[in-house]
Amino acid sequence: MKYKSIVATRRGGPEVLQIVENDLRPPAAGEARIKILATPVCQDDIAVRVGNRPFLANVPFTPGYAILGVVDAVAGNTANIAAGDRVAALTQFGGYAEYIYWHADQLVPVPASLDPAEAVVLILNYLTAYQILHRVAQIKARDKALIIGASGGVGTAFLDLGRLAGLKMFGLASPSKHSVLLEYGATLVDYHTQDFVKVIQQAEPGGIDFVFNGMGEEYFEGGLAVLHRGGVIVHYGGPQSFSRFLLLIAKLIGYNLLPNGKSIKGYGTHTGKVDQFKQDWTTLFKLLEDGQIKPLIAKKFPLLEAAKANALLESGQVAGNIVILSEDLLP
Ligand SMILES: NC(=O)c1ccc[n+]([C@@H]2O[C@H](COP(=O)([O-])OP(=O)(O)OC[C@H]3O[C@@H](n4cnc5c(N)ncnc54)[C@H](OP(=O)(O)O)[C@@H]3O)[C@@H](O)[C@H]2O)c1
Repeated sequence: MKYKSIVATRRGGPEVLQIVENDLRPPAAGEARIKILATPVCQDDIAVRVGNRPFLANVPFTPGYAILGVVDAVAGNTANIAAGDRVAALTQFGGYAEYIYWHADQLVPVPASLDPAEAVVLILNYLTAYQILHRVAQIKARDKALIIGASGGVGTAFLDLGRLAGLKMFGLASPSKHSVLLEYGATLVDYHTQDFVKVIQQAEPGGIDFVFNGMGEEYFEGGLAVLHRGGVIVHYGGPQSFSRFLLLIAKLIGYNLLPNGKSIKGYGTHTGKVDQFKQDWTTLFKLLEDGQIKPLIAKKFPLLEAAKANALLESGQVAGNIVILSEDLLP
């Protein structure tokens, strides 16, 4: 039997994404074979395809940072996973496909009641925001925070989880996206026309507690300026090249040496622990099941339109998340 996947055949725009057919094989020891129901389209899919990362996967490769699907076959009696289970995983690659083979012990069970498009968004974007809020920053109700890149997939996860945690939030976003973001209760700042440092310093003369930065190191200076002593920037934006990566490290060291009582911390899921991921995904699934969070889904695409889905995210015109769904879940 054959299955389809999407392959980036070389570095470049969405047009380099091609549909290929592969042979379905039995899972190897420790693996589960999963029929994919949903995969998010995320910035790293694009950055690696285009070549905007310091460390790049070789081409050809199949993008797809996270998956949600149904176990189709397992090799033996593996990690309490059985055929028919609904599961999810953080895969980094391989999600743009009808099937994936993945380590059975790295899968998290997903409640069958959850909408696959909403639940798959929890695997990368919400996990990132949740871990930064609760494991890195260890926020408390009424803390004040600035979210840079507030309209994005991770930014809207911060807004959703921050509202739930009782944060007072400021968010940088383009004005065309403000109307969909208003419901989160954050003060939105149009960073194209407004000086966000002035706006926040005027609103909070005593300074704020946290800045969550999904963009580049160019935001460190402004971020530090709006913090009070003891305040923290958590930086999670991916560096665009090796030289930007070195600049980022140099700036992290340099700014952290300043005697201003403020600090900058870095976060990346690539250094995270699967056991903690599973714990946090389970918490997030429960929040979604209980209606306490609601991922913003901008658009859903069938797998064979992955190139269009990528082009839309690259256009920067969407607020929230773009998700690729298996054909049978689309009308
Ligand atoms: N470290 C990790 O583990 C981890 C995990 C997930 C994502 N990330 C990284 O986090 C970043 C954001 O990801 P995402 O999925 O949220 O991206 P996204 O959905 O594409 O959203 C990014 C948003 O940032 C805004 N933006 C663009 N340029 C900006 C600028 N110069 N200043 C302020 N805002 C700007 C844009 O919205 P507006 O039009 O509203 O400005 C854009 O929609 C990416 O670098 C990604 O690689 C890291």
